[in-house]
Amino acid sequence: MRRRRLLEGGVLAAAVVGAVVVMAVEGDLGAALTLLAVSAVLAALLELDGRHRHALRSQLESMQQQVARVRADQRAARDEIRRLRRRLEKQLRTEPGRTLTRTIESSVGQISTELAQTHQLVEEHADRARARQIELRRSLRDLKHEPLTQQQSMALLQSWFTPDAPLPAVGGWAMEPTTLVEIVDLITRLRPTTVVECGSGTSTMWVTQALRRNGHGRVVSLDHDGDYAAATRAHLARHGLGAWAEVRHAPLVPTETDHGPLDWYNVDAASLPLIDMLVVDGPPKATGDLARYPALPVLVERLAPDAVIVLDDADRAGERRIVELWQEQHGVRWTQKLVGRALLLGLGDTPPAAR
Ligand SMILES: C[S@@+](CC[C@H](N)C(=O)[O-])C[C@H]1O[C@@H](n2cnc3c(N)ncnc32)[C@H](O)[C@@H]1O
Repeated sequence: MRRRRLLEGGVLAAAVVGAVVVMAVEGDLGAALTLLAVSAVLAALLELDGRHRHALRSQLESMQQQVARVRADQRAARDEIRRLRRRLEKQLRTEPGRTLTRTIESSVGQISTELAQTHQLVEEHADRARARQIELRRSLRDLKHEPLTQQQSMALLQSWFTPDAPLPAVGGWAMEPTTLVEIVDLITRLRPTTVVECGSGTSTMWVTQALRRNGHGRVVSLDHDGDYAAATRAHLARHGLGAWAEVRHAPLVPTETDHGPLDWYNVDAASLPLIDMLVVDGPPKATGDLARYPALPVLVERLAPDAVIVLDDADRAGERRIVELWQEQHGVRWTQKLVGRALLLGLGDTPPAAR
C-alpha cells in the first residue's frame, strides 16, 4: 500500500517536473513557477493526510487489542463462575450442605410466619384505631347540640319528680339525663315488678322515683364498691325511697363464663326474684372490655320471657362486642337504639314499642 502510494507520488512528481521543463523551455516561466508551487502545496497536503490516517489506524489497532483483552477476561470470569457453581452444588450435596440448606429453609419459614403475625397485629391495631376515630368523630359532632339535649331531658325529669334534697350527679360515671328519661318512660309504660340494676348511683334514684309513681315494683341494685353502695342507700333514705329499693354490696369475683373467667358481682342469681327489667351500667369498663358480658349468662335464667334489658354505654366497642355475643349465645332477639348512648334489648318476640 505504502509502496503503491510512493509509486503514484513518483509518477505524479515526474509528470509535474516534465510539464515545468516544457513550460520553461517554451518561455512560459510564470506558468511553470505557478505549477511548481501548486504541486508543492498538494504534495504537503497529501503528506499531512497520510500522517493523520496513520495515527487513526494505530488507534484503531490499539482499540482492537483492548477489546480482545476484555473478551478474554470475560471468558475467564465465566469459567470461574462455572467452577464456583459446580463447587457450591457439590458442597450442598454433602451432609453439612444439606443441613445448611435445611437451616436456611427453616429460618425463611420462621421469618415468613413472623412477618404474617406482625402484619395481622398491625391490621388489628389499625382496625381499633379506625373504630376509635369513628367514635371520636361522632362525639365531636354531637358536642354541638349535646348540652342542649341533656338539658332538655333534665328539665323533663324534674317536671316528673321534684326532689327536695341533693341528688348524686348525672353524666360522667353516672347515667346521662337522656338515658334516665328513657328508663323512667319504660318503667312507666311496662310497670315492672322487679328491676335489677348492675351499678348503683344516680340511676337508682330515678328508677326508684318511677316505681314509686307507679305504686308498684322494686329495684335490686348491685354495687361492687361498699362506699358507693352506702352512698346510694343514704341518698334513697334522704328522699324517702328506701322501701322501693335494695342496694346490695356485691364485690367483684372471678366468674366462669364461656369466654373465660371475668370479674363480676358476687351474687347468687337464685336469690333474685324474676326480673322484668335489667339495667346494665356496671361493673366499670376498667375491669376489662367484656366487663359487663357476664350479666346475661349469669342472670338469663332469672329473666321473665318478655324482660327488657337496658345497656348503657352501648356506643363503646367493648359493649358492641358484648351485644354481639349476647345475640349469638344468649338468646337476645331484638335491639333498639334509645336516645343517647343506651341500647334496649330483649329475648322476647317484640320490642316494647310494638306491644
Ligand atoms: C358506671 S357506674 C354506675 C353508675 C350508676 N348506674 C349511675 O347512673 O350513677 C359503675 C360503678 O362505678 C362506681 N362509681 C360510681 N361513680 C363513680 C365515680 N365518680 N368514680 C369512680 N367510681 C364510681 C360505683 O361503684 C358504680 O357502681
